[in-house]
Amino acid sequence: MNSVKVHSFSNITTQKLSRICHIYNDNFPTSQWSESHFYSYFKSDLPIGYFLMAHGKIVGFIWGKKKEGENSFNLATLWVDSAHRGNGFASLLIQNFLEAAFRVSNKIYLHFRDSNDLKHFYSRFGFANHIIDGYYKNGEPKHYMEIVK
Ligand SMILES: CC(C)(COP(=O)(O)OP(=O)(O)OC[C@H]1O[C@@H](n2cnc3c(N)ncnc32)[C@H](O)[C@@H]1OP(=O)(O)O)[C@@H](O)C(=O)NCCC(=O)NCCS
Repeated sequence: MNSVKVHSFSNITTQKLSRICHIYNDNFPTSQWSESHFYSYFKSDLPIGYFLMAHGKIVGFIWGKKKEGENSFNLATLWVDSAHRGNGFASLLIQNFLEAAFRVSNKIYLHFRDSNDLKHFYSRFGFANHIIDGYYKNGEPKHYMEIVK
């Protein structure tokens, strides 16, 4: 844990952003982002994101954005390198994210795929009001959870 550091996406270098885009695409094959989409997402209004560095390598990240015209914040992506799982790193990222997102909104919500059985995982952090909120393009049920301040 001591060798792992949390960094904010604010002031992130283009090189690191590009690396994170590649890691993201390698690990989320069903929702690929082009680099240009990735850059515009992070250069636009109010994204909040954190990434973890261990021994010069990016080993985790989280990000999300305020929903336009609403007082709610979407937790869009969470990932921890498989070699580093089970050490509380996702918890660390989520804590940082929730703290920052609740400074600018009253509700934080997320979606996850049926194949990622994460209802219990997210409920540990206070996410509740679970529903199936439609379907992904490949037909998988889309799970929804939220925390309301
Ligand atoms: C889900 C993920 C982020 C968890 O990362 P992690 O760093 O291992 O999580 P933590 O160590 O902080 O775990 C916190 C707690 O949740 C539990 N947990 C971890 N992954 C879990 C999972 N997939 N399902 C249920 N519980 C889980 C841990 O056992 C731990 O419990 P404990 O505090 O009693 O020990 C990681 O497995 C991952 O990146 N998976 C692939 C990408 C993904 O599914 N992202 C979410 C998409 S919405």
